[in-house]
Amino acid sequence: MKKYKIGLFGFGCVGQGFFETLNSNTEISAEVVKIAVRQKNQVRKADAKLFVYDIDSVLNDDDIDLFVELIDDPDLALSIVKTALSKGKPVVTANKKMLAENLEELIELQNKYKTPIRYEGAVCGSIPILKNIDTYYNSEKIESIKGIFNGSTNYILSKIFNENISYESALKSAQENGFAESDPTLDVEGHDPKYKLSILASHIFGQVIHPSQIINWGINKLQKHDFDFAKENDLKIKLVAKVEEADNELSLLVAPHFVSKYNPLYHIEDENNIVTIEGAYSGQQILSGKGAGSLPTGLAVLSDVREILKGQGYNYKKSLVLKPIKNDLVEAYVSFSLKHSFVTELFQSITERYVGKDYSYVIGQIKISQLQTIIKLKSVNAIITSGNKIENITSKISYSYA
Ligand code: HSE
Repeated sequence: MKKYKIGLFGFGCVGQGFFETLNSNTEISAEVVKIAVRQKNQVRKADAKLFVYDIDSVLNDDDIDLFVELIDDPDLALSIVKTALSKGKPVVTANKKMLAENLEELIELQNKYKTPIRYEGAVCGSIPILKNIDTYYNSEKIESIKGIFNGSTNYILSKIFNENISYESALKSAQENGFAESDPTLDVEGHDPKYKLSILASHIFGQVIHPSQIINWGINKLQKHDFDFAKENDLKIKLVAKVEEADNELSLLVAPHFVSKYNPLYHIEDENNIVTIEGAYSGQQILSGKGAGSLPTGLAVLSDVREILKGQGYNYKKSLVLKPIKNDLVEAYVSFSLKHSFVTELFQSITERYVGKDYSYVIGQIKISQLQTIIKLKSVNAIITSGNKIENITSKISYSYA
């Protein structure tokens, strides 16, 4: 049986996980024959003869059958993928930013060169969501996808809520565990889950949704009083990514949400992710599992290699009608220091209000675009309370943020 030759780019957390899962697999007839890395003189857990320090010597190796791109520089990753496709060589990648920002062009190039790329590892680590969206759910009319798409922030929030560990130490620990991006602001400011949502939504709705069309903010500015508010009300804060379709319009958002114990997201801890899918035919289905980490993400990459060796790229559903993106009215809790009291006036209706010496908060209905503007102010924080079905999954909830 032919043993396929793989050229690997990058040997970081995911690269090593992929290498390890491939080498302990007996089903896939493939081996890594070259690994391009940047830094020389590092001790690595693989035969030193495999390592090369220039990308072209891998890309131009005609003996290589497919490439696995696992570096974290999105520009270089894009150039590797484009060169590979132009040579008719398939690629597996996990570079979320690169994919989300260039998906339209990458779909065109796959068609032009009749060569596939796959990227399960780019979206929710080990959870096989893209594969299922592309095959099983291809015939489903998906109404919404909501979930936790970032392992690092969920890990940080779990440490804060369950172990009273500070934000700074929890972030450090997420970095040490290899969950966080090399630039962790991508995680904590909610960009990483936005890229994942953009990729997922593009596959679901058959129209490419660029990340710039998605409003996002993260958990990096949350204050003790925001966490205290959650704890006093028996809630947790989760960084939620969601896309919903209603009346042929799409709503997309990545933002912290209060969730109660009746919501499945409440129970997802540490680096785990969850994807809840609402379909017109299948109703609600839930996938959850490790969203970050070396072996879980390495396995997702390996499963793509297997699909590629079967000649299987993505189907890319084509929608006939392009759906506009809505600027929703949402229900949110907004906390702010006294110098930002004008925030109150932006609410269209208010259900709860607190004015204190050090900070105040308001809960009520506000336009998402206004939240996007005020969240940029230093002492302003916004957490989505409810105002949508995410809190009503068990339909036990009547109180807005409970
Ligand atoms: N930094 C990402 C996360 C890695 O924490 O989810 C997996 O995509």
